[in-house]
Amino acid sequence: MNTLKHLIDISDLSVEEIGQLIDTANDIIANPGKYSEKCRGKKLATLFFEPSTRTRLSFEAAMYELGGNVLGFSEAQSSSAAKGESVADTAKTVSCYADIIAMRHPKEGAPLVAAQNATIPVINAGDGGHFHPTQTLADLLTIAREKGSFENLTVGFCGDLKFGRTVHSLIGALSRYSGLNVVLISPEELKLPSYVKQEVLKKAGIPYIQTSNLEEYMPNLDILYMTRVQRERFFNEEDYLRLKDSYILTPDKLKNAKKDLSIMHPLPRVNEISVEIDQDPRACYFKQVLNGKYIRMALILKLLREAGTIA
Ligand code: CP
Repeated sequence: MNTLKHLIDISDLSVEEIGQLIDTANDIIANPGKYSEKCRGKKLATLFFEPSTRTRLSFEAAMYELGGNVLGFSEAQSSSAAKGESVADTAKTVSCYADIIAMRHPKEGAPLVAAQNATIPVINAGDGGHFHPTQTLADLLTIAREKGSFENLTVGFCGDLKFGRTVHSLIGALSRYSGLNVVLISPEELKLPSYVKQEVLKKAGIPYIQTSNLEEYMPNLDILYMTRVQRERFFNEEDYLRLKDSYILTPDKLKNAKKDLSIMHPLPRVNEISVEIDQDPRACYFKQVLNGKYIRMALILKLLREAGTIA
């Protein structure tokens, strides 16, 4: 790999770098005009081989708000991947046209292959059931703004913990702060993969509970991170239909929750949070959407500065 800095996994960023990105994002929120010309004349390529609303559009909005331009595609079928072109050749090609790449791909590891072949920074915008580091940055900015700190939090992750790449990345990020307690709430078939438990939770000595009962642990939680059961990751439609409504958060289920609980969800939502919850002041999921744009602005600035593309 070349010496360019990419973002493939959240662990590519130190705790200090995450703190700096959050500081920059907060400054962008407070002083947007200061940043409106920072990427003038620069181009972001959004290479999305898998559907997206938030990630692709927030990357595009981020680059426009930095004064830059955007090119790319939103489905594999409209790119030469449909003719069999490799991810490596796609990355080499796009490096001739753009200054930075945001890539989403259904195959785990595809953005890493792109990074190994590109001559510009590559950002993983989600790879299969693996990682989604920029969603994690959006989640961390939201937690920082809601809770003021990442320390001494009890976080419940609920739903599809097996395929939920946002869960894997956020657990990895939060495990680096002290006082974390984790409650893993899922059906048996959608439990957190062993490699995340072994390599992250156990390695960092983080206490965790595995349960299928959301209401039992609700009173303990500072953050409830709901997730969608991901139809696109199932081999068998019957299994999806059986599991898809395992957890539906309704106002009744929140009756024993803390008054300052933060209810998070990376979105898209299907049924797992009732729309009535949207009016609850503890609902943070549309704040995550907006924070996603600001933290991606901060990330684009950081990677382009480190590549020497902008001052
Ligand atoms: N949270 C998230 O990744 O949403 P999209 O799939 O719409 O990008």
